[in-house]
Amino acid sequence: MNPDLLVDNSRPTVAAPALRTKAELRAALEPARRQGLRIGLVPTMGYLHEGHLSLIVAARDECDLVVMSLFVNPTQFGPGEDLDRYPRDEERDLRLAAGAGADLVFAPPAEEVYAPDSSTAVEVTGSLISVLDGDAARRGPEHFRGVTTVVAKLFNLVGPDVAYFGQKDAQQAVVIRRMVRDLDFPVRVEVLPTVREPDGLAMSSRNAYLEPSDRERATALSRALAAAEREARAGSLADGLEAARAARAAAAIAPEYLEARDAETLDPVERFADRPVLVLVAARVGAARLIDNVLIHPDKSDT
Ligand code: PAF
Repeated sequence: MNPDLLVDNSRPTVAAPALRTKAELRAALEPARRQGLRIGLVPTMGYLHEGHLSLIVAARDECDLVVMSLFVNPTQFGPGEDLDRYPRDEERDLRLAAGAGADLVFAPPAEEVYAPDSSTAVEVTGSLISVLDGDAARRGPEHFRGVTTVVAKLFNLVGPDVAYFGQKDAQQAVVIRRMVRDLDFPVRVEVLPTVREPDGLAMSSRNAYLEPSDRERATALSRALAAAEREARAGSLADGLEAARAARAAAAIAPEYLEARDAETLDPVERFADRPVLVLVAARVGAARLIDNVLIHPDKSDT
């Protein structure tokens, strides 16, 4: 789907101003801070799609000043990952961000964010960052250390009242919530639903890597999750996972994982009890590594 569709035409279609330095950012935020305005932050790595724009629109609704960060954070990419080829189009991003309601975009170069001898990281320890994507055989815990470090820095630089993240990166959202709780960041974390293409594919900047022949197969992930939710609600979580595996196998996609986990602790779950459950999937489809998930609330649990 075309992200331009979400652009509010009553807003200027000029680019949002891009601030390159921390000093510029602090100076731009100072008047809002003095006036006690409500500041919303939408952290992104750019190459915006409707998922990002839905976060900006939500921030616009709730906050007086909306800041989007646009920074492809090197510390959350492992060796051999796609840092160099991660899709970038800053000019388009600045226009889309303004159209969706961002007042400012913080788009610093890496050397502005990390001093050459930077030696401090923020890490949520334990299983939250070592399971699923944090498993050493996948992206590893270093990925989440990179995410929490840069998000903590953005929180310190922007001082947002509310920060907006997408449910598609469910594990990231759980980890960030835990960091905010444990370190008493005075920010409310809002996690908003995954935005999907009409055929169900979760929007992601990495969908740009999909060749046309892989694009169709990639929809098997969302079909698998829909089957998991349907079966889980009708019967049991085990049936749901079985249905998801069947849907995924039909498209000849071997997942890195397809698992049911507690939505807050990420502990494995086998049955619904009184807590929300996440069914999460990750798989390589052609040149893209895709992740997706469904959050199932225990309103209709299996017995
Ligand atoms: O979700 C992302 O795009 C990134 O992980 C984030 C939160 C902007 C940190 O770099």
